[in-house]
Amino acid sequence: MRTQVVIIGAGPSGLLLSQLLHLAGVDCVVLERRDPEYVLSRIRAGVLEQGMVDMLERADVSDRMRKEGLPHDGFTLSVADTRLRIDLKGLTGGKSVMVYGQTEVTRDLMDAHRARDGKVIYEASNVTPLDFNGPNPSVTYDKDGTSHEIACDFICGCDGFHGVSRASVPDGAITEYEKVYPFGWLGILSYVKPVDHELIYSNHPNGFALASMRSEKLSRYYIQVPTGTDVKAWSDDAIWDELKIRLGSEAADRIETGPSIEKSIAPLRSFVAEPLRFGRLMLAGDAGHIVPPTGAKGLNLAASDIHYLSEALIEFYGEKSAAGIDSYSQKALARIWKAERFSWWMTMLLHQFPDLGPFNARMQQADMDYLASSHAAQVSLAENYVGLPY
Ligand code: APR
Ligand code: PHB
Repeated sequence: MRTQVVIIGAGPSGLLLSQLLHLAGVDCVVLERRDPEYVLSRIRAGVLEQGMVDMLERADVSDRMRKEGLPHDGFTLSVADTRLRIDLKGLTGGKSVMVYGQTEVTRDLMDAHRARDGKVIYEASNVTPLDFNGPNPSVTYDKDGTSHEIACDFICGCDGFHGVSRASVPDGAITEYEKVYPFGWLGILSYVKPVDHELIYSNHPNGFALASMRSEKLSRYYIQVPTGTDVKAWSDDAIWDELKIRLGSEAADRIETGPSIEKSIAPLRSFVAEPLRFGRLMLAGDAGHIVPPTGAKGLNLAASDIHYLSEALIEFYGEKSAAGIDSYSQKALARIWKAERFSWWMTMLLHQFPDLGPFNARMQQADMDYLASSHAAQVSLAENYVGLPY
């Protein structure tokens, strides 16, 4: 088989790229190891920057987001006894974020592909990118016991952190930067009314807590737990009791509790691979970088990669120019490092570290006092939260 672009991975990155290339008349095939139900079963975050919202508009998959998404003009930070509302709209000259689950974004992209019979091959095993350092790359895979090979011009690795694409790059050709945090986020999803109409990020002496939502009837909460915690050690009641403590008395009085429909622990890490291009192979999304979820940047960074990558490929076939391909890695990494910095800073501000110590504890407090007393500091936080320009 031959196509112009093979995309490995049918998560939000791979499907968004495929949709944008299709709308621009670029031929592509998506290879996904799992089945659609599994891809949709992974509960991920759900705060979309304006840039991501615009990308979904351009990809013609924004109808349901427009109907069911919740625009948010602000959120609350709570560190020790200081509570501060960050007025995103006021501080950024009118920008806000959209609360709409990543699972819903992926579902909308899947529906768009199904509607046009888009080439997404699920349950493709042993996917292997080949010869991407030469002019004739190809990808092999097995399906239903038969081996297949697709010749192409480019391979886009949108296969996440544990995917085959980055693993296929020779060691010497890639530099990896990583920071692993000594805790994880225990998250629950429950059909209860959110405690507030906006998100609350709280740093309590017991640890971090986040009150978020998927809709006005479906709430998403997180508490910080030590690395290695067994999710079975936390009953729903224990989680609700801890949330009441960490979110503060005001929220505790209002919080509605109920049975969890999903409960899981996610580790926290910062990770960047450099560069993101290896001949005819480009990495995008979690295949190239991971951020701790504290800044809600994971999905949005994947979208900005896809912005640069789709523009580069469309330019290559449309204007026969490789300029975008040649600058893809540098452009994407410039924005990635800023989002890494913001996500790291939010994580350092809002979590209890085992070895925090009195000085660092005062630094967290001083950071919060500065934020509460400085318009400039709040503008900086807000502009990063709503998303830096592409
Ligand atoms: N062959 C084919 N498909 C693969 C392979 C492989 N060897 N390895 C992984 N995949 C698939 C996975 O099954 C998954 O569906 O690639 C897809 C990668 O999707 P994601 O991990 O969701 O990565 P991405 O699309 O970049 O989305 C990034 O996900 O983790 C969140 O916070 C992150 O929001 C960000 C978003
Ligand atoms: C979520 O709703 O899952 C969520 C929101 C904001 C974050 C992280 C996760 O920073």
